[in-house]
Amino acid sequence: PDLLLLNGPNLNRLGHREPDVYGSRTLAEIEAACRDHAKSRGTDFDCVQSNHEGVLIDTLHQAEGRYKGIAFNAGALTHTSVALRDAIGSINVPVVEVHLSNIHAREPFRHQSMIAPVTIGQIAGFGELSYILAIDALLSFVEKS
Ligand code: DQA
Repeated sequence: PDLLLLNGPNLNRLGHREPDVYGSRTLAEIEAACRDHAKSRGTDFDCVQSNHEGVLIDTLHQAEGRYKGIAFNAGALTHTSVALRDAIGSINVPVVEVHLSNIHAREPFRHQSMIAPVTIGQIAGFGELSYILAIDALLSFVEKS
């Protein structure tokens, strides 16, 4: 697979967790929709979800040389984790930051992203479509570079 779809804490609860904010589809359903879309664009991806910061860091390190790009929803760690930011900064793989919700329209503590400065860009607010848009953005970026 060319790409990695990486999801952080609590995203395994999609479909059950605050459906008014995050929608009613499970992560597995979203991943399946993404896979169909990726296939139509001639590519594929691996999926990793973890609730553990260290696993996310290890996964980012191991992505070097293995993937052409990463779509990453870091969940709440987006707003707090210098370690994830440094992990992204330590690898030579383009990362697109993904959020289902528009983090800028929510509580002030969600407005800041620690990882944004080390990503190529952020897609937020489009629900599950955010992941599809992130895949398209990554593929366009990879094709150009
Ligand atoms: C989220 C937004 C974060 O603020 C929140 O902690 C999440 C999900 C999103 O996809 O909208 O867990 O990353």
